[in-house]
Amino acid sequence: MKAIILSGGKGTRLRPLTYTGAKQLVPVANKPILWYGIESIVAAGITDIGIIISPETGEEVKAKTGDGDRFGAQITYILQDQPLGLAHAVKVAQPFLGDSPFVMYLGDNLVQSELDLFLDKFQANHLDALTLLCEVENPSAFGVAKVDAQGKVLQLIEKPSVPPSNLALVGVYLFSPAIHEAIAQIKPSARGELEITDAIQYLIDQQKNVDSFRLEGWWLDTGKKDDLLAANQIILDSCLDLTIEGEIDAPSKISGRAHIGSGSRILNSTIRGPVNIGKNCQIENCFIGPYTSIADESTLIDADIEHSVILKGAKVIGIHQRIVDSLVGERAQLKVAPQRPKALRFMIGDDSQIELI
Ligand code: TTP
Repeated sequence: MKAIILSGGKGTRLRPLTYTGAKQLVPVANKPILWYGIESIVAAGITDIGIIISPETGEEVKAKTGDGDRFGAQITYILQDQPLGLAHAVKVAQPFLGDSPFVMYLGDNLVQSELDLFLDKFQANHLDALTLLCEVENPSAFGVAKVDAQGKVLQLIEKPSVPPSNLALVGVYLFSPAIHEAIAQIKPSARGELEITDAIQYLIDQQKNVDSFRLEGWWLDTGKKDDLLAANQIILDSCLDLTIEGEIDAPSKISGRAHIGSGSRILNSTIRGPVNIGKNCQIENCFIGPYTSIADESTLIDADIEHSVILKGAKVIGIHQRIVDSLVGERAQLKVAPQRPKALRFMIGDDSQIELI
């Protein structure tokens, strides 16, 4: 069994962050999203992993993630020249996959359940495709499955205006090599992509063995800001140990679960967990509220913040209105002068959003 993780794509929904970086490397609880997928695959006993990368962000993904040693895996990087669809990524990975069955994992997805459960079903029933399905409130935004009473997949429809069910396709799939033949037969969709849903539909139409697995736990597609914040909240809730490696001065108060990385200094501040603060951060005269992750080398002085994600090297200074539901990019700076400000001065990148609410 092998695995591929799709870490190319355009990332338009997470602009401006994706102008300069890969969305799969945006941290959730200070760990790149992509790494959760790698860890989950390795935990299921699969160590031969191909990562699909794009020309724009591939080098960054490679440099950060490495050859797999740190995960106990062997990682092969596979360049997809253009983001021509999920099925196109499988096509590009075919030389790596050979005739092995494989897991396909979308690099911006997080899934709570362990992969073993899906693997057991896939192997025991000699399936050609196993899709994971999750009940959602807005199925029109997803690929949706129509299933029979036994869970057998009858039809897959990409973003239907009249959904046949509320079962969305989760970004983790298991395939036999039969998928390659299916991908060779399909044509690009109206949006110009080779759709994996079309390839699975081809398998269904050929009476191949396609089944589904109903996911009970949470599943998050982190492609948009609010989903990313939701992922940060769930991960901080479910797996944060209280580890204080940095320095906390006497006036500071820490309640709830908090991780404070080495070299970080917390001065005259209140931290109410769950909160994850990386290494070498300076936090001074601040309130850091629940569900906040602050990446390495960030500086927060005279600031109140909660339910937010701050990326590496950012600076937030002099903002006492509570900052909420926010995502601040690497090295971004938000500053308010100590005296009552008389004007607002900005230098913000394309597609940035500032809301004074
Ligand atoms: P999507 O989030 O569906 O596509 P995208 O990354 O282009 O994002 P957006 O819609 O915001 O423009 O992709 C799911 C995952 O698959 C994501 O990790 C990117 C990856 N991917 C590829 O590796 N190759 C591709 O051709 C496509 C379309 C996506």
